[in-house]
Amino acid sequence: MKVTRLLVCLLLGLFVMSCRNLSTGAVKDLRPADVIAQTGDAHSYSNPEQVRVRHVDLDLEVLFDRKVLKGSSTLTIERTQAGADTLKLDTRDLKIIKAEASTDGSNFTPAQFALGNSDKILGAPLTIQLPPQATKVRIEYETSPGASGVQWLEPAQTAGKKHPYVFTQSEAIHARSWIPLQDSPGVRVTYTAHIRPPENLRAVMSAEVEPQTRGFGYRFKMTQPVPPYLIALAAGDIAFKPLGERTGVYTEPAMMEKAARELEDTEKMVVATEKLYGPYRWGRYDILVLPPSFPIGGMENPRLTFATPTILAGDKSLVSLIAHELAHSWSGNLVTNATWRDFWLNEGFTTYLERRIIEAIYGREREEMEATLGLQNLKEEMADLPDADEILHVDLKGRDPDEGFTLVPYEKGALFLRQLEETFGRERFDQFLKGYFERFAFQSITTADFIEYLKKNLFDQNPQLASQIPLDEWITKPGLPASAPKPQSDAFAKVEAQAKEWLEGKTPAAKLQTGGWSTQEWLHFLKFLPQQLNANQMKELDQAFGMTKAGNAEIAQQWLVISIRNKYEAAYPRLEDYLTSIGRQKLIKPLYEELVKTPEGKLRASKIYAKARPGYHPIAQTAVDKIVKKT
Ligand code: BES
Ligand code: ZN
Repeated sequence: MKVTRLLVCLLLGLFVMSCRNLSTGAVKDLRPADVIAQTGDAHSYSNPEQVRVRHVDLDLEVLFDRKVLKGSSTLTIERTQAGADTLKLDTRDLKIIKAEASTDGSNFTPAQFALGNSDKILGAPLTIQLPPQATKVRIEYETSPGASGVQWLEPAQTAGKKHPYVFTQSEAIHARSWIPLQDSPGVRVTYTAHIRPPENLRAVMSAEVEPQTRGFGYRFKMTQPVPPYLIALAAGDIAFKPLGERTGVYTEPAMMEKAARELEDTEKMVVATEKLYGPYRWGRYDILVLPPSFPIGGMENPRLTFATPTILAGDKSLVSLIAHELAHSWSGNLVTNATWRDFWLNEGFTTYLERRIIEAIYGREREEMEATLGLQNLKEEMADLPDADEILHVDLKGRDPDEGFTLVPYEKGALFLRQLEETFGRERFDQFLKGYFERFAFQSITTADFIEYLKKNLFDQNPQLASQIPLDEWITKPGLPASAPKPQSDAFAKVEAQAKEWLEGKTPAAKLQTGGWSTQEWLHFLKFLPQQLNANQMKELDQAFGMTKAGNAEIAQQWLVISIRNKYEAAYPRLEDYLTSIGRQKLIKPLYEELVKTPEGKLRASKIYAKARPGYHPIAQTAVDKIVKKT
């Protein structure tokens, strides 16, 4: 009875307001992942509410010559609805060769299957007819060379220049482009894999490496249930070096020394996070530093974070990205957003945790600088966003989740949690978060699940403090509440004072007090400058600080944005070099966006992009196409 009421309530879409009246016991009877399966994930064709995949067993050959992964995926299934006779999976650009089913787990017989029409965003549903007692389904398939979740690199795109390289990026909905499965973050699976790259190359996955038995290839197992977007694979000339007891770095041999030095604080970070939020539950924490075409900064693949080499600044100043991906081992990988609407549960929590880790290891001043930069970037981005996209519980139906991703779930989400911390006190809030990770460990939950837990475990005990939190405004309204926390950085105040000295003509650039400035201070300095600078000013800054040749990828990027805006031609060769060697979207998209604002810039953008595009990841190509080709 209670369950039916809950369902009706969810189906009516009355979200938090009306669900509030339900006795909370009802939710406990149902696992959150099952609740969401019944409410539906707008980005999956799968049918976990009838038949649910519990385990994936991959057997894949890595064919560099054809740019194809070829083999089979064997799914262990469970009927969630009695008598259900079809399994619905997600696919995108997969060639399905054969489907088979088994009732005893070892003898397989052919099963009927149909691949539906392909939707531009969702891909094509694969429907498989199940014999009554079937417990396993095996699909023989191969990926397409243009698979959205796989990038194939020529040797020239690697550091070593000798061997090809391949890696996957499954979040948000790209796992389906290399594995046929129920590609919803509400469907958790354990997995095993046998990966066969060419003999001289190593394969790594977001899983435990099994000791090699016989024959070729690498074997992996992930015995904790994870959402499909956390399944990841890479193969190439990859070396390994331990960093600490449970931590290590994988990267090409040519990158190893630099990477290991930059990431030397990783073990400390794991220890600091455990102290705050409870034990690290995934065994090892290793980092794979990828070639520069990696389209994002970092990806929290369990046991093996994937990271861009653009964080290797030489001074550990960009390692908050590692703190971030590590934090996902609690927020995201243990407690997972059940749908992409709930993405802020992953990223807002993680951004908040990231800052706490940075504070624990590098101090409050560094943390406040990063929080201030985060808020600035959020405000800048929100200035151009429609109201609907400024909402934490954003509606992404009918849209590609890749497009709906902004700083809102990250920075607004983190500010919300920071307000909870500041209002209820750090001690109480830390306890609350620890309890939350424990309560929902290895589950996928919705925003409504979180709010219910928050009310019951924090608000109800402290009603007068709770009354200071504009909860509904945080979750369902655009913009930032007036009471949103305001990070404070004294160091930035000093940076601003120096910038003013220069802008007002009181002190030449070379005489400014910039000695010992951190990356964050430089970034703030550049951000603080007015949009328009004249040719002499640009030259003066460049001569004083060597901006055009800055080795730090973030500082260089900021400078290049300013250079485009102010037509500083001396930086153009660097701009071209930057755009043709780095594929991280966060860094390259703003440069193309700045370029296409003027007719000459558009021309330059097209010329550079023609050279750069083949080296970009399919996801980055799609994103930059929209900027360069549409205009
Ligand atoms: N999980 C995200 C990456 C992601 C999000 C991939 C959405 C695909 C779709 C990861 O944890 C992340 O947020 N990475 C950031 C770095 C971080 C320091 C903000 C990135 O890649 O820039
Ligand atoms: Zn993240």
